[in-house]
Amino acid sequence: MLALLPRVADENVLVGFDTADDAGVYKLTPECALVQTIDFFTPIVDDPYTFGAISAANSLSDVYAMGGRPVSALSVVAYPAKGDIEDLEQILRGGAEKMREAGCVVLGGHSVADDEIKFGYAVTGIVHPERVKTNAGARAGDVILFTKSIGTGAVSTALKRGIAAPADVEASIASMLTLNRTACEAMLEYDVHACTDVTGFGLMGHAREMAVASGLTLEITADCVRFLPGALDYARQGAIPGGLRNNKDFASCAVEITRELPQEVESLLYDPQTSGGLLIALPEEDAVKLADKFPQAYRIGQVIPRAAKPIRIV
Ligand code: CO
Ligand code: CO
Ligand code: CO
Repeated sequence: MLALLPRVADENVLVGFDTADDAGVYKLTPECALVQTIDFFTPIVDDPYTFGAISAANSLSDVYAMGGRPVSALSVVAYPAKGDIEDLEQILRGGAEKMREAGCVVLGGHSVADDEIKFGYAVTGIVHPERVKTNAGARAGDVILFTKSIGTGAVSTALKRGIAAPADVEASIASMLTLNRTACEAMLEYDVHACTDVTGFGLMGHAREMAVASGLTLEITADCVRFLPGALDYARQGAIPGGLRNNKDFASCAVEITRELPQEVESLLYDPQTSGGLLIALPEEDAVKLADKFPQAYRIGQVIPRAAKPIRIV
C-alpha cells in the first residue's frame, strides 16, 4: 500500500517510508538530523506498570536502531472510558520511568476512549546526518551480530494460555525491559555498516529487510541463534502467536533453508519480538571488538553476495 502513496520530494529527508527502515530521519542542519518513530500496542503482560515500561523500551528501540539518541516523546493512549484509572496511572508511570532511564523527556501525549487498551509513544531522537545507521549499508563479508535472545512472542502466547513457567515469563520480561541504549552506544564506536532492531516481523522479517535494502544475502547460522528460556518448548507445545504465522506467510519465500531444522526452531525465526535486540552488520574485526566490549552481542551469521534468496539458513 505504501508503494502507492506519493513520495516525499525533500532533500532533507535522509530516510523516508519507502525503504522499510526503523524510523524516519530528517536533516535539520549539517550537524543534526531528527529521528522520528511511533509504536503502540495492546497489553502483553498482566502488570500495568510493566506493560508501560516495556512499551516505552519498545518505542525507543527504533531510535537506537538508527544510531540516534532519544530526546523527547509523546504518549499515545487508548483506554476504556470506564476502565480502572489506577491501572492507567501505573501504565503511564511505568512508561515515564523507562523514558527517564533513557534520558528521554515525555512532553505530553494524546488519549482516546477505546474498549481495547493500547499504549505507546511517538519518540523523537537526534543523530549526526553522516552517522545514521540504516538497514541498507551491509556489505559482503560483514559479520552479523545480534544482541538479544528470540522468543518473546511465544512466551507471551504461552502466558495467555496458562502454560508458561513464571521464571520463563520473568526472563522474557527482563529482556523486553532492557533498553537497546547500551547496545547502540557500544556499536557507535565501530564501523557499523547496517543496523535494525528485530521487532514485530521477527528475525527473518527484519533480516530480510536488511538483505533486500543492501542488495545482498544474509546467511544465518541457525545453531547460533539464542532463544529465551522455555521458548522452544512452548513453540513445540503449539504456543504460536498469530503474528508468527503472518510473518512466515510473508517472509518465508525470501528464506532458503539448506539443512534439516527442528520445526520449533524454524518457527521461532519468525516469532514477532517486542523490544527485540539490534541486528548489526559490520566488518569481522569490528565485530570481534564490539562483542568483546558488549558481550550480549553475539554472532549469528554473515553477509554474502546475493544468493538464491535474501536469506540463507545454514
Ligand atoms: Co525497528
Ligand atoms: Co517501529
Ligand atoms: Co537502522
